[in-house]
Amino acid sequence: MTDTARPARPAAGADADRELKAKHRAMWASGDYPRLASEKIWGLGPRLVAAADIHPGDRVLDVAAGTGNASIPAALRGATVIASDLTPELFEVGRRLATEAGAELEWREADAEALPFDDDSFDVTMSAIGVMFAPHHGRAADELVRVTKPGGRVAVLSWTPEGFIGQLFKTMKPFAAPLPEGAQPAPLWGDEAHVRELFGDRVTDFAAERQTLEVPFDSGEAFRDYFKQHYGPTIAVFRRIADDPEQVRALDAALAELGRAHGLGEPGGTADWEYLLVTARVR
Ligand SMILES: C[S@@+](CC[C@H](N)C(=O)[O-])C[C@H]1O[C@@H](n2cnc3c(N)ncnc32)[C@H](O)[C@@H]1O
Repeated sequence: MTDTARPARPAAGADADRELKAKHRAMWASGDYPRLASEKIWGLGPRLVAAADIHPGDRVLDVAAGTGNASIPAALRGATVIASDLTPELFEVGRRLATEAGAELEWREADAEALPFDDDSFDVTMSAIGVMFAPHHGRAADELVRVTKPGGRVAVLSWTPEGFIGQLFKTMKPFAAPLPEGAQPAPLWGDEAHVRELFGDRVTDFAAERQTLEVPFDSGEAFRDYFKQHYGPTIAVFRRIADDPEQVRALDAALAELGRAHGLGEPGGTADWEYLLVTARVR
């Protein structure tokens, strides 16, 4: 093999990014995200699909689709849907749920920051509490815009920093690994000014609305234990501090207190999980 024929060595940055994404994939495949999605937040998908105004025949891409929370109701509206996600381990349950619902769609492994689709491919590109977890917000927003046809719609639903899940991440932060250089915190996608800046003048008709989802738990402890068992990001933090019982006790107490502070354990036992729902039209 001549020097010129030798494959180029990937840049150190590319290696680091692959490593980071592999870590993220393993995190989302841990615990039981499919169960959490079905039991706690399944109501979000239809809300996003309604806001995205999906019609029969639309070509729709769901980014970071998980088990199809938004993809399945979009397909049931008669759209041609691709459910894409970094974590294909989630597709097995997604396929089963789609079959049970009578929905037909395609499942495709894809990093939101490097979507394997041509420019201008979709009438609607959407994401339910998904693209917010891609670490480089600018790259992910660029991809959403790139694959959407001119005049097509982008619809993104993200937990707000002030809402319950935003506060969960704030509570876990002192115990979590620091963000790698260049990575941004997920709940920033729930900040309207941040999202406006990400899309900039590449979109028109930008609209953002804060809404809430009511999620019941019997107590702060019940919420904490459910997340410790099922939610990848919480599992990852507890794994990191597993050898330090004092830290574990402190995080246990902080998470239970977070639940109580949001009304869990009181009559009704329901916390309002706030999210930002953004819709816009690509120029
Ligand atoms: C909270 S789940 C949301 C899944 C689904 N949209 C729902 O509403 O249930 C976050 C999803 O983001 C995916 N994800 C994380 N980083 C990603 C990335 N860089 N590219 C694509 N998907 C990613 C995870 O695999 C996971 O399925």
